[in-house]
Amino acid sequence: SFPKTVELVEVGPRDGLQNEPKNLSAKVKVELIERLAAAGCPVIEAGAFVSPKWVPQMADTAEVLARLTRKSGVRYPVLVPNEKGLEGALAAGVEEIAVFAAASESFSQRNINCSIAESLERFAPVAERARGAGLRLRGYVSCVLGCPYEGAVPVAKVAEVALALRGLGCDEISLGDTIGVGTPQRARDMLAAVADQVPMDCLAVHFHDTYGQALANILACLELGVATVDAAVAGLGGCPYAKGASGNVASEDVVYMLDGLGIGSGIDLQKLAGAGAFICEALGRSSTSKVALALAGR
Ligand code: HMG
Ligand code: MG
Repeated sequence: SFPKTVELVEVGPRDGLQNEPKNLSAKVKVELIERLAAAGCPVIEAGAFVSPKWVPQMADTAEVLARLTRKSGVRYPVLVPNEKGLEGALAAGVEEIAVFAAASESFSQRNINCSIAESLERFAPVAERARGAGLRLRGYVSCVLGCPYEGAVPVAKVAEVALALRGLGCDEISLGDTIGVGTPQRARDMLAAVADQVPMDCLAVHFHDTYGQALANILACLELGVATVDAAVAGLGGCPYAKGASGNVASEDVVYMLDGLGIGSGIDLQKLAGAGAFICEALGRSSTSKVALALAGR
């Protein structure tokens, strides 16, 4: 049955902006994050302490965090791939980090330049230090419903990686359909297989909308009881190591659906759409959120 409330994890400032060709100033990123917080977003992924050679769009994460006025009660996690990233995150005073693994070997190699097993070994000291410093820890599993290089990915592999991340002490594990190929029954089967090994209340779902299935997939997963959903305002996003993958499901579309289902998210749809309009203007692109377009009368 449906959860009563859902925690939306707004990943626009990170997943959304990491693949945009136009480089934004830290000032614009800060305004986006502050608008999202003002709209009631409880969790906003604010950036990534990754190699600037790999993802130049995230190179100014320290500056963004330094300029940001953090709203009390809001969490601002950042991506961290290794100990060097953790140093940056700790220096910036973050309270939550996310490590990121994959369920596909080829994607792991292209995204973080190591095998799945090596990535888990690399995360172990990061997780231990982060937990020792009192940080909350999130773990991602990418390619849970398909890989851009390998095609099909077995659900058993997804469950195995999720369990390993849980073993490292991740409080929450986000299951990512990185290339947006999933359909509702497959999404549900995958989530059920993982929830056999990791408690449902530690799981989040993360859908990209390449084939227009993201909202349907989320609905299918909500029915299984998942209560944490990742989304990006204006449907921004894509992964630089997953060619052809389009944006994340749009936060506005998720909030509209949750409102219609009577599931609380604490987010004000109009203000959220305002944040989306702001970032689309800054990027010189249009929103892919149907709800945002409808609200704007277009
Ligand atoms: P590497 O080249 O194997 O690493 O990259 P290295 O340790 O050999 O270091 C190479 C250079 O990078 C060195 O600099 C390091 O100092 C530097 P040099 O000596 O050449 O001047 N470096 C760093 N700089 C800043 N911060 C760091 C850092 N680490 C090393 N943390 C590495 C390995 C993991 C670093 C690299 O592959 C990387 O940064 N990858 C990140 C890729 C990424 O951000 N991908 C997008 C996020 S994942 C995603 O979008 C999926 C998700 O949304 C879920 C879903 O949709 O499924 C999460
Ligand atoms: Mg993603």
